[in-house]
Amino acid sequence: MKSREKFGGRAAVILALAGSAIGLGNIWRFPYLVGMNGGAAFIIIYIGFVLLLSIPIFLAESIIGRSSGANCRVAIGQLVPGRAGRWFGLLMVFTPLWIVSYYSVVGGWSLDFLVKACTLEFTTTSPELVKGTFGTFISSTWTPLLYHFLFLAMTVGIVAFGVKSGIERFSKVSIPILFVLILVIAGYSISLPGAKEGIYYLTHPDFSKVTVQTFVNALGQSFYSISLGMGIIITYSSYVSKNENLMVSAVGTSVSDLLFAYIAGFAILPAVFAAGIAPGTGPGLVFDTLPYIFSSMAGQMPVASAIAAILFFAAILVAALTSSVSLIEVGVAYLTESKGFSRTKACIVLFFICGLAGALCSLSFGPLSGIKLFGGGLFDFADSFASNVLLIMGALISVILVGWVMPRKKLFAEFTNRGTLARNVRLFPVFHFLVRYVAPLGILALVIASVLL
Ligand code: PFF
Repeated sequence: MKSREKFGGRAAVILALAGSAIGLGNIWRFPYLVGMNGGAAFIIIYIGFVLLLSIPIFLAESIIGRSSGANCRVAIGQLVPGRAGRWFGLLMVFTPLWIVSYYSVVGGWSLDFLVKACTLEFTTTSPELVKGTFGTFISSTWTPLLYHFLFLAMTVGIVAFGVKSGIERFSKVSIPILFVLILVIAGYSISLPGAKEGIYYLTHPDFSKVTVQTFVNALGQSFYSISLGMGIIITYSSYVSKNENLMVSAVGTSVSDLLFAYIAGFAILPAVFAAGIAPGTGPGLVFDTLPYIFSSMAGQMPVASAIAAILFFAAILVAALTSSVSLIEVGVAYLTESKGFSRTKACIVLFFICGLAGALCSLSFGPLSGIKLFGGGLFDFADSFASNVLLIMGALISVILVGWVMPRKKLFAEFTNRGTLARNVRLFPVFHFLVRYVAPLGILALVIASVLL
């Protein structure tokens, strides 16, 4: 068998995993969820879930990936032989491909909005006219489709270069740039007149707004944001050398993701408050509300607003790309290793499959808007089926396999690098308890709560 590529060291591993984690979930989803769920109180609950559940699940997936050194389908098959293992493995390959199909539609929106920002469309048009931009754009047929395919082409273009020359090199450049971009935008946002209220909202918890739904949203978001339950961490960890400390990469990735999301909150919500808009507007917050804000601010500060708009949509685009790359890589690893495809052929095949599936989601805001599944359009169905069903099933399978199926000795060896990491040896009983009891019960509680709500 051809020897597999490996990431080149700890920084490369964390940057690639952070690239997967930091994405639309942080810049698009997190701020609007914070806005809808009472600000800082949501953030505190979110941090609790990351520490208690997401990091142990992350570690469980890393352990499955690195101990197998193979793609998801093979990795899971090693733990569960026979039919069940085959189906679980295929589910983990299927989930990210399902997600990338509609994720690249949103990636396409950010590409289009970057073009609009660069051509000064937001800052030279009146706020009233800018208001309708997003609605008109997504309900049209060809432009969103074109940008969806363009975004997907960029994604497979990076993946085609391979793990080291493609994914690793891209993440090493783009993640530091992303942090700088989001910090600059946050600086702009908090300097706006009237931004204080937004800062207060992000730093002072109001627990009276917390409901069961807040907990469900916070847990769901932590899975979504850290890329849990979808084979990505299994696949990326299979490229991690046996000498890396998996706990360091799990904690490093989760903390970077959390930090980025929090800064993104500062990049967006103070500007929203400054413009006098209610923070709980939901998914349209970034694509609908922000262009309106850029346009409203352009009167007093035209240059700063134009630059902020460009930087903002560039940040969303790059964040979306580093994540979509990881989503496609799961399928590419499977097709190349288990089906004998060349990397290029796998990329081309997945470009067409995901491109066509995503096209249906894109058209669901326009010509296909009449098609409804479970009360929503095709895009909404794709998103909620992924977040509420596929991710949860994937995460549950991973923790059960690691907590209950993998022999304790093997788990210990993998967690502690064969007993050589003293701190991991000490923390092993805590990790084992979290992954065996707390994580599966936490996931089940999430499922039950969301069914009952
Ligand atoms: N974790 C990435 C993000 O937050 O955008 C990638 C991702 C994860 C996308 C889960 C979609 C998804 F359902």
